[in-house]
Amino acid sequence: MTLTTMSEAIGRVRAVGAFNLVQLEMAEAIVAGAEQAGCPAILQISQNAVRFHGALTPLALAALAVAERAAVPIVVHLDHATDEALIDEAIALGVPSVMYDGAHLPDEENVARTAAVAVRAHEAGVWVEAELGEVGGKDGAHAPGVRTDPEEAARFVAATGVDALAVAVGSSHAMRTREAALDEGLIRRIAESAPVPLVLHGSSGVPDAGLDGAVLAGMRKINIGTHIGAVFTRTMRERLIADPELVDPRKCVAPAREATADEVSRLLRLISLGER
Ligand code: G3H
Ligand code: ZN
Repeated sequence: MTLTTMSEAIGRVRAVGAFNLVQLEMAEAIVAGAEQAGCPAILQISQNAVRFHGALTPLALAALAVAERAAVPIVVHLDHATDEALIDEAIALGVPSVMYDGAHLPDEENVARTAAVAVRAHEAGVWVEAELGEVGGKDGAHAPGVRTDPEEAARFVAATGVDALAVAVGSSHAMRTREAALDEGLIRRIAESAPVPLVLHGSSGVPDAGLDGAVLAGMRKINIGTHIGAVFTRTMRERLIADPELVDPRKCVAPAREATADEVSRLLRLISLGER
């Protein structure tokens, strides 16, 4: 098993967990969690994470290398890219899946730009995810009232040729509590209407039962960032408080990596295998 494609990963389980990473040890934790669960997983690098590092190449090559030595199928995915040049760069580096995020644009422009990205990506055999109906919350402003219309979703997929669609069904990005209530009826209606795998963003704010319900209703890719970042940071904080004299960063990063792997494994068993 190794670096794989999105269609291969999605075809193996009822839904695939996609986890955001900001540094090497989070990529290692996500892959270790996937190996523990025996499930495929997605390593996601967001445009924001790229901006943090100042470049895509170091993080993308690290993620691709970690994926290649994994014991389960792993996809590397560029997440929430609004910069089309960054998408081209990811494709050139061998990243097999990208998200073009035009959800903030006027509808017509979102369709035109997404369709153009899809043509270029497909020429290179790369999977394309797009977003319709802004999930919101990336800049601190939650948009819990925004919803994707099922018929519009079908028209958007037909007009753009995308392979997967992120939809707004009640979650918001960067929630620190897991209390979002998803509209499962709406997920069902969109899944019936749009002929591509649906993606749930902002899944950190969704409780376990809600994640299971979302998958049963038709979600095929579940994006989790804030929650696993919180597990990583909390574990480092505990370690640093327990040993204020600690100087070797590995002494706090290793337990954080381990705790994150355990939580990724638990979430994958829920999302991909339906174990609760
Ligand atoms: O694209 C990334 C996800 O939607 C993560 O959202 O940080 O709220 O879990 P989250
Ligand atoms: Zn997202």
